[in-house]
Amino acid sequence: MIDVNSAEFVASFPKESQCPGDGKPEFAFIGRSNVGKSSLINMLTRKGLAKVSGTPGKTQLLNYFLINGTWYLVDLPGYGYARVSKEKQKKLANMIEGYLFNRSALVLAFVLIDVTLPPMPIDLRFINNLGEQGIPFALVFTKSDRIGKVTVEKNVALFMNELSKTWENLPPYFVTSSERRTGKEEILTYIAKNVKRL
Ligand code: GTP
Ligand code: MG
Repeated sequence: MIDVNSAEFVASFPKESQCPGDGKPEFAFIGRSNVGKSSLINMLTRKGLAKVSGTPGKTQLLNYFLINGTWYLVDLPGYGYARVSKEKQKKLANMIEGYLFNRSALVLAFVLIDVTLPPMPIDLRFINNLGEQGIPFALVFTKSDRIGKVTVEKNVALFMNELSKTWENLPPYFVTSSERRTGKEEILTYIAKNVKRL
């Protein structure tokens, strides 16, 4: 796995065209608001790097973190947060898609899924859209400490089964808990492999 020796916030950007142009490989993190994205980013890097909040929908920009001086971790706004206006939601969706669909430095996106819930249509729609656009991605099931192992396995299987109705090749997936710090090595190893491949 990669040792994360340094992780620093770079800046936040309102659109893809304003993001860094140095071509360093980027790994993006996205998911429904409150899915545990900031907690996961902190587990992968260091405590306090991304803000964990009780109020969902905090992240409304493309947030760049430079890891070991060599690759960017990009924290994207959550999708489908109901408590913002329709207009704002549309703006956020455009920002997210503008980034994901145009970003040549993007190696892959990690899509976070709350494993305590059965498959959510909004997540499936988002993933199907990524697949249709040919964006490489992996799934990260979050909050696995909150439910029993059997239910975790059941919800993962239900989710993958939903995807298999549309896709022949299923994406890689990771089961994590930021609370128990599980899944960290697997994800960092996967990132390391993809950085090296470039
Ligand atoms: P927004 O940026 O607001 O959209 O949320 P987010 O996706 O960044 O989620 P965040 O990391 O802020 O976590 C949301 C809530 O879930 C917080 O109360 C966290 O403490 C909790 N949480 C996140 N990950 C885990 C986990 O692995 N286990 C448990 N039990 N709780 C978690
Ligand atoms: Mg967050």
